[in-house]
Amino acid sequence: MPDIDPWGDVEIGNYKDKMENFGISPISEVEDRMPDNLLIRRGIIFGHRGMKEFTDAREDSEDVAMMTGIMPSGVFHFGHKSVVDQILMYQEMGADITVAAADIEAYNTRDIGFEKSRELVLEEYLKNYVALGLDLDKTDFYFQSEGGNKYHTRSKQFAKHLTQNEVESTYGSAAPGKITSALTQYADILRPQFPERGGPKQTVVPVGVDQDPHIRLTREVARKFRDLEFKKPASTYNKFMRGLQGGKMSSSDPKSYIALTDDVEDAKKKIDQAKTGGQDSLEEHREKGADVSEDMVFELLAFHLIEDDQELERIRQEYSSGEMLSGELKQIAKEKLEEFLLEHQEEREEAEAEIQQFLDENDQRI
Ligand code: TRP
Repeated sequence: MPDIDPWGDVEIGNYKDKMENFGISPISEVEDRMPDNLLIRRGIIFGHRGMKEFTDAREDSEDVAMMTGIMPSGVFHFGHKSVVDQILMYQEMGADITVAAADIEAYNTRDIGFEKSRELVLEEYLKNYVALGLDLDKTDFYFQSEGGNKYHTRSKQFAKHLTQNEVESTYGSAAPGKITSALTQYADILRPQFPERGGPKQTVVPVGVDQDPHIRLTREVARKFRDLEFKKPASTYNKFMRGLQGGKMSSSDPKSYIALTDDVEDAKKKIDQAKTGGQDSLEEHREKGADVSEDMVFELLAFHLIEDDQELERIRQEYSSGEMLSGELKQIAKEKLEEFLLEHQEEREEAEAEIQQFLDENDQRI
């Protein structure tokens, strides 16, 4: 088996090892050329490929693009939100935004039909993306199944540049459904560079490390393809938030995540039940302080709910010194969460009309 299976479970223990094994570079190399964003400041985005070239192009005022894909599975939760935060960061940087809904991949690897994918993508994902700030008017959003003739033809042509050996050693399998999904994903990643979309340009794909096999092979294909010119796509890698109970955050276990559509009271209950880094007794807690690195409530605050570094640092210090109790930390989280969810859920309602209009205008593209 390969070390990373893009269709398998995502729990990536040691990011450092993965970086060394695969030749992912530390984000610190380009940090000062990226926007001031908490994902970067807090090491949530930890690695990259090809971002020197991307930032060079941007500083030279060339067109740049950002591309990502949505796997329609289950509800949209805080674990998915970091991807959207990254889209928004690149949107602010002026990149062309492309978002693929991976219905062909879902069909072939997860037995989810097109109808179901459409429903999940629109209701669970796109509505949340727009509510969080994605500007659909400036986004090339499409379903893989409706990606257009040229897109599908190119995805088949890419097969010529892969060997069975390469596929098996990268993915651990050459199952037809996986190969088809992979080739479709290469077409997603290169789509912003299609002639119909303005030709070659630096493109960044923000992903979790589990998607790195696709990035590696797309970079290969981009180099070998002769019929069109492509620049090698760049990528950034973000850490996965852990589940509220510790361990993996999983769409099949509602206790492990807070969905952005969760009822506020249910969401607060999940915080109450979350794993903390507090000590067993009050006495011990006051003496030793909390283990912040094992605290899932603190993780939620750091990833999503506290923007201000000083505020977060103050909490970290008080909590790890034992001055602040887990119950107090949870109280802070519940207040922030309530505020966030109420506002977000209102934004979702407003997003509905915008999405409908977009769909009416763009039913079939390139
Ligand atoms: N395979 C991705 C996932 O499982 C979804 C996806 C499809 C994607 N096309 C993409 C991600 C292009 C990044 C870029 O989540």
